[in-house]
Amino acid sequence: MTDPARNDAASIAEGREAYRQVFDNAVSRLMSAAWGGNLHLGLFADADEPLASAQRRVKDRMAVAAAIGPGTRVIEVACGVGGTARHLAREHAATVHATNIAEAQLAEARDLGLLEGLGDRITFAFGDFHQLDAPSHAFDCWWCQEALLYAADKRRVLEEAVRVVRPGGRIVFTDLLLTRAMPAEERERLAAELKAPPIWAIEDWDALLAGMRFDVLERHDWSEHVALTFSRVAEALRSVRDAFAGKIGHDAVEGMEHRIGMQLDAARAGRLGWCFYSLAA
Ligand SMILES: C[S@@+](CC[C@H](N)C(=O)[O-])C[C@H]1O[C@@H](n2cnc3c(N)ncnc32)[C@H](O)[C@@H]1O
Repeated sequence: MTDPARNDAASIAEGREAYRQVFDNAVSRLMSAAWGGNLHLGLFADADEPLASAQRRVKDRMAVAAAIGPGTRVIEVACGVGGTARHLAREHAATVHATNIAEAQLAEARDLGLLEGLGDRITFAFGDFHQLDAPSHAFDCWWCQEALLYAADKRRVLEEAVRVVRPGGRIVFTDLLLTRAMPAEERERLAAELKAPPIWAIEDWDALLAGMRFDVLERHDWSEHVALTFSRVAEALRSVRDAFAGKIGHDAVEGMEHRIGMQLDAARAGRLGWCFYSLAA
């Protein structure tokens, strides 16, 4: 039987390039503007809460699970434009090595880190989470938000996490999911739009983690927060669309609106989910 978590080097490189072709360009700034500089979902206290504060809550919640405090060495993979890295350095006094494959996002992340004067606590580097250019057992925590859906080989990504974290450290991640209610045709269409492999359900994560014999310290299904997040992003996108259309073109803006709209519709229909796992390394 083939292992759905496993993939070869060619598929990994192909997936990485597919993502970069569509998102690692001028679209990057639009995405960052629409998501408020944090390309991840929010944990809402109520339906009126702004996205930024719901996004802060999820980072703080994960930081507690990962026992992050002054001097904790974090490696963040798929760091987007560095919103989480800055938060962990600024609010929790952690030192963060943040990696990503999108050069445009890394450039914005470096600028924002310097602007906030956090250059001594954060380093940014190009890095594919399947194969990190980092020493073994050098970190207390491996961290990832809303990016494992892009991993062609999720088992290998977690093996890398185990390699770079010290024994007894933490591996924490959130990930966008589909629910079993999503028909196969919609699953394929969504993956094609996001330039990702077929998106997983929480049961797929449970099966992989059990097979790898992880000690799962926390597991939460936070799916109820997905629709609210995407509705906030759609709203923000409407407010910046005209300014960006002049700069990056109508097609790029409409492509982004289409992708967010698809995810919003799927989330409202209960077909998109979101999970959080904290694992002992
Ligand atoms: C939805 S964004 C999340 C970004 C960030 N974690 C955050 O919460 O702001 C997905 C991220 O996955 C990154 N990504 C996609 N494929 C990757 C790979 N093979 N290795 C590392 N990062 C990858 C993208 O460049 C992007 O930054």
